[in-house]
Amino acid sequence: MNKKEGQAKENLSFESICSTEVQELRYNKPHVLPIYASASFVFEDTEHSMSVFTQKEKGHLYSRYANPTVDSVAQKLALLETYGSDIQADCLLTNSGMSAISLVLSSYLKAGDTVLTQGDLYGGTTELLHKVYRNYGIKTITTDLTDLTQTEQIIKDDPTIALIYAETPANPSLRCIDLKRLSSLAKGHGILTVVDNTFCTPYLQRPLSLGIDIVVHSTTKSLNGHGNSIGGAVIADKKHTQTLWTAYKLIGLNPSPFDTWLLHNGLKTLTLRVKQACINAMKIASHLDQDHRVSVVNYPGLPAHPSHQIAREQMSLFGSMLSFELKGGFEAGKQFMDSVKMITLAPTLGDLDTLLLHPASSSHLNVDKAVREANGITDGLIRMSVGIESDSDLISDISQALDSIASIT
Ligand SMILES: Cc1ncc(COP(=O)(O)O)c(C=O)c1O
Repeated sequence: MNKKEGQAKENLSFESICSTEVQELRYNKPHVLPIYASASFVFEDTEHSMSVFTQKEKGHLYSRYANPTVDSVAQKLALLETYGSDIQADCLLTNSGMSAISLVLSSYLKAGDTVLTQGDLYGGTTELLHKVYRNYGIKTITTDLTDLTQTEQIIKDDPTIALIYAETPANPSLRCIDLKRLSSLAKGHGILTVVDNTFCTPYLQRPLSLGIDIVVHSTTKSLNGHGNSIGGAVIADKKHTQTLWTAYKLIGLNPSPFDTWLLHNGLKTLTLRVKQACINAMKIASHLDQDHRVSVVNYPGLPAHPSHQIAREQMSLFGSMLSFELKGGFEAGKQFMDSVKMITLAPTLGDLDTLLLHPASSSHLNVDKAVREANGITDGLIRMSVGIESDSDLISDISQALDSIASIT
């Protein structure tokens, strides 16, 4: 209890009783993490304030810097992302996946630097690089990061490459990048490596233990898993998180304690949810693979997928994301989307329930056809984020939607 809280308030006026803070009546520890909806934290006296401000003593000052709800969940995420290794990492939770990515880019890049990345990144990240960071004199080169010979040649030819940014499995091809080989190549050239681990979560893949320097997440997706808060995370060793913390607090990237609390609720069932979704995804991918109306199924769990072997090596299960191409093109894609009954159409992923996206009629509607096709986004491509429903219900919904295509082709 704060010293001042113990002092009697019985002589206060009605107005002052209304407006002063209450003494917290808490006799024992709550079982579940409380939501600390407090912008600032109280000092005992000036000695205490000096000792916290000079970091002699640990203490909370202001929730843009740090907050007990946020810090507690960040600590759990750092533990999960480094599980099974002896890496000492910290985590900074942010108010969106995009702000986590921006935190890393703005902390490590300067005018004249180049980012080497892949063409099939999350679209928001590609736009961020081309529409925001380009204006600060930061160039982006895209290549196929699964081709390490070509990647090495690009690095040798361009000494301005300061950072390699990767996403694996990539969207929508679900192709996987060999993170161990990529990180050792980058280290040999003194280049920082950053991986967006949103699709996998640390349950399926832990890039830090494969030599990657910094991991980012959109916690909005499978980490939360319930689709009820937007958030992000950056996890790296303490040397990096100290550097990142300066921009974090000064740009103001902190998440709300309530959103973080929702994330924590979701994290508790991460393994159950993700495991079930992966089992369902494998069954759906195998089913679609046998269907004559589908020309291609992209799922790294299928033995014929080009990244099956690398996925086996660096992921513990094959994930809950898949995509497939309908032979009937754009019209077949639209018909399929309009015919599902149980499955939801929504532009997100990683939720408890199965979600569909037809990029050609939604997220990529305004993207030039040649540009989207170069990144594997054809007219008939459907992306599926598989949930934890009964697999037989999912397969029968998919089958009746496929049957409906016959009526239009
Ligand atoms: C792989 C990936 N990274 C980052 C983001 C951005 O996350 P947020 O929407 O939480 O800002 C997304 C969003 O869809 C994503 O799919």
